[in-house]
Amino acid sequence: MIMAHLDVGDIETVDAETVKETDFLRFDNLILAVPTWFDGELPIYWDEFVPAIEEMDLTGKKIAIYGLGDQKGYPENFGDAVGLMAKLLESRNAGIVGETSTEGYIFESSKALRNGKFLGLILDQENQARLTEERLAKWLEQLKRLF
Ligand SMILES: Cc1cc2nc3c(=O)[nH]c(=O)nc-3n(C[C@H](O)[C@H](O)[C@H](O)COP(=O)(O)O)c2cc1C
Repeated sequence: MIMAHLDVGDIETVDAETVKETDFLRFDNLILAVPTWFDGELPIYWDEFVPAIEEMDLTGKKIAIYGLGDQKGYPENFGDAVGLMAKLLESRNAGIVGETSTEGYIFESSKALRNGKFLGLILDQENQARLTEERLAKWLEQLKRLF
């Protein structure tokens, strides 16, 4: 869906499960897919990459984060991984772009929140799949202006 909304010629995709430091550093603008797992945690493949990120200088990079979450199943940890990743990247001096409104979501708490907004885009395929395409399209329009 993301590829369909963007100018594919300018985009390269990298599998998060096998991402390397060099993949990360050679781009100025990145979109990371970070679903939430294990009651508010990063999935294993991102968790294993955290030590590498902790060594990176991400000054000058613009990074947008989206991720799947389940607001009914995990209302206290909804989309937490988006917030965990955003804070980790900020600690390495990256600029996080693409915050979104919480309107239309029902949950109790989320580490992805800052000043009442999500630090990225959270998509809920379990409960609100029919909203995904519109949410994504709106977010990508925002990113096109920011990148
Ligand atoms: C074991 C397990 C734990 C989960 N924990 C959370 C959670 O804490 N917060 C959340 O928003 N979603 C949680 N989810 C929901 C997943 O984010 C959701 O199923 C998502 O679609 C998984 O995306 P993926 O298939 O790309 O990994 C969890 C799902 C599973 C199976």
